[in-house]
Amino acid sequence: MRERNRISIRSVRASDIATLVHWGAQSPELWGSKVSKWYTARGLKRYLLVLQNDIFLVAEIGEKLVGMCHARYMHEWLYWENLFVDKGFRRRGVAEKLFKEMVKACKKKKGLREIGLQVRHDNTEAKRFYKKMGFRMGFLYFWMEKDLIRRKKV
Ligand SMILES: CC(C)(COP(=O)(O)OP(=O)(O)OC[C@H]1O[C@@H](n2cnc3c(N)ncnc32)[C@H](O)[C@@H]1OP(=O)(O)O)[C@@H](O)C(=O)NCCC(=O)NCCS
Repeated sequence: MRERNRISIRSVRASDIATLVHWGAQSPELWGSKVSKWYTARGLKRYLLVLQNDIFLVAEIGEKLVGMCHARYMHEWLYWENLFVDKGFRRRGVAEKLFKEMVKACKKKKGLREIGLQVRHDNTEAKRFYKKMGFRMGFLYFWMEKDLIRRKKV
């Protein structure tokens, strides 16, 4: 319990980017899929500078960044885009605290009624986590993607 009290949550800062990018290397779905890179480090930096309809929180223990979550609100509903906790800091309540803070932030926005998210069918840990946070099953579907620019052949 004492350790849970040491987890602090704040809004993301530009100085967090290097860690966020590093986490993306461990968890490709953070900023891209297996075949696509949705955000380069530069793109992510630009994105963080113009956050608008976003709730982008990070968790710290002491000075160390240990987790992040990002969601985007669209009038009545919130799409929870990303959640990641550093491997060495899992099962200590970091994701739960991020989630609770996100819900608190949502309550300050008028009109938000629902949170939706997608989780890979084989991501047992995350599914257990979301269930514990009260999420129920919605749709089952395939991720599809298409390039908007011609890719260089390597
Ligand atoms: C899923 C993830 C965010 C959970 O983060 P976490 O900080 O370890 O989660 P918490 O400690 O807050 O866990 C809260 C509860 O969720 C459930 N849970 C979390 N991780 C679990 C696991 N590996 N196995 C079973 N249950 C788990 C438990 O009920 C847990 O409560 P308990 O520890 O009291 O039993 C983390 O495993 C992670 O970053 N995974 C890789 C990235 C990812 O898959 N993100 C989700 C993309 S959709």
